[in-house]
Amino acid sequence: MKSFLMAAALALGVGVATLPAPAVQAAGEKPTPANQSWSFDGFFGTWDYASLQRGFQVYKEVCSSCHAMHLVSYRHLEMIGFSAEEVAAIADDYWVTDGPDEWGDLYEREALPTDRFASPFPNEQAARAANAGAYPVDLSVIAQARKYGPDYLYAFLQGFRDVPPEGIELRIGQYYNYYYGGAIGMPNMLWPDGIVYADGTEATVAQQAWDVTNFMMWTAEPHLQTRKQAGLGVMIFLIVLTAFLYAVKRKLWADVH
Ligand code: HEC
Repeated sequence: MKSFLMAAALALGVGVATLPAPAVQAAGEKPTPANQSWSFDGFFGTWDYASLQRGFQVYKEVCSSCHAMHLVSYRHLEMIGFSAEEVAAIADDYWVTDGPDEWGDLYEREALPTDRFASPFPNEQAARAANAGAYPVDLSVIAQARKYGPDYLYAFLQGFRDVPPEGIELRIGQYYNYYYGGAIGMPNMLWPDGIVYADGTEATVAQQAWDVTNFMMWTAEPHLQTRKQAGLGVMIFLIVLTAFLYAVKRKLWADVH
């Protein structure tokens, strides 16, 4: 009986092992994105300010027509090297809803540096209505909200394919993204020279994806660099303190030994 069971199990195992590997990507299965080397990685990580500023330009000119970033305000941009005048000029391009006024009504006014980034849609329903039912998520903390964080975002933004693999059906308003793992309600938005960078950098698709990913990492964790530098300061202090205490100990115990 035992050997019969063994034989059956073996046959089953061999049967499974010889099945051809699935040719199509299973729905919802996300490939692992390549590991990139970011300036903010590691213990000595710092921001690449030029890339952050270009990344804001990509967000502003491409992504902000669909995606909000409700945790970021215009004056935060001073942290990545924009001057107060530049920030005021950026805010000036937007309108926000304020109020209520003394009559109890909401009103529109020009945005100020202290305002949060203006949202492209007044509410989720309007955002979905404009995107064939799909919701363009708020991008403020998306870099923390996805497994593989920036590596995923960088791959995702370059992961659109014109023709989906066999077996993946796209409904109207859907597109195929390899790194998203299937059909998505967002079209490819990055094109070579799709924008003209203010600093003259060539706007390849990879460059735009890189810069806007840097920017999304900063919005998700604006204090990353300060935190790392504080950590480094503490380490240096502890090393100096240890050396000092050791010297004191040697001096005090010199006569005893
Ligand atoms: C035309 C509108 C539109 C534009 C412009 C747009 N997106 Fe999207 N995006 C969407 C929609 C809609 C979704 C949700 C798709 C879904 O749920 O199927 C989405 C989803 C996403 C996601 C989430 C992916 C995930 O893993 O869940 C990220 C990240 C993203 N967009 C980043 C960007 C960036 C960065 C830009 C600018 C380069 C951008 N998007 C421009 C409509 C847009």
